Amino acid sequence: MKKVTKAIIPAAGLGTRFFPATKTIPKEMLPIVDKPTILYVVEEAMRAGIEDIILIAGRGKHSIEDFFDISYEVEDRLVKEGKESILESLNEIRSKVNIISIRQKSALGLGHAIYCAKPAIGSEPFAVLLGDEITITENNKPNVTAFLTGKYAQTGASSVWVLPVEKKDVSKYGIVNVGENSIADLSNGKKVLGVVEKPKAELAPSLWALPGRYVFNAEIFKDLENIAPGKNGEIQLSDAMNMLAARSAMNAYSFQTRRFDAGDKLGFLIANIEVALDRPDLKNDLLDYLKNRIN
Ligand code: UTP
Repeated sequence: MKKVTKAIIPAAGLGTRFFPATKTIPKEMLPIVDKPTILYVVEEAMRAGIEDIILIAGRGKHSIEDFFDISYEVEDRLVKEGKESILESLNEIRSKVNIISIRQKSALGLGHAIYCAKPAIGSEPFAVLLGDEITITENNKPNVTAFLTGKYAQTGASSVWVLPVEKKDVSKYGIVNVGENSIADLSNGKKVLGVVEKPKAELAPSLWALPGRYVFNAEIFKDLENIAPGKNGEIQLSDAMNMLAARSAMNAYSFQTRRFDAGDKLGFLIANIEVALDRPDLKNDLLDYLKNRIN
């Protein structure tokens, strides 16, 4: 089966949940401790063996594209000061992956953002990593994108990550129909029968939510091309997934990892605390502060 070497990172949304910060700063550039959110996402793709990243940017988002370029002055200064370790991750990305930028001229929805990448994908299978969702996996363990591309290589079927959520939260996500509503273990995969976008609790087909990591066969472009605007007038990825799942295999998998919705205020704050607690230079001082704050 084919190795997945391409990934799309949609990052052209308006980020209204983060207004007014996102009026001039893309939410994907807001820092989690000292790295922009998008860097965690690009690192995840690179560690999963992705070679070509197609970044979907939009109006006011050029700082995302600029971020991956070389900033001669500051980088030269860091090297002269012996602080080149700060540049390690960026240098690794520059040497291992091509970042191809495509503009979504208007934020017409996630499905439309993915469709914009079609010229760079052709007929290859590809991963999708939402630009405002980060996952943290222990070093040396495969991350969720590596897990999904591995499943694709084994099965040749589109493979999507699902996460169990509480009933009160189903309306924030696309929810998959896997033919049952129990939260049994899905680590071996279950066929996706359909997807319902942000359903009301009583209409949700299960408690399995799509948090933003997928691998699709390129035939999904045909569906994206044919769907009409759905919920909120946007071209919805979930509508295209429904069409694809009706004709070819698509499997949902659960996978254990820490995951944060950095496009949401609380998710963003929690991500900052969690990442800081992982950092030896910040952990103890932050813990002291939090303990004092709570007492
Ligand atoms: P979201 O729905 O979280 O993004 O899309 P949003 O529309 O920017 O968010 P809010 O609700 O207004 O705060 C998930 C991902 O898809 C991208 C976003 O940038 C985000 O990374 N996206 C969404 C696009 O690239 N284009 C779109 O038209 C919509």
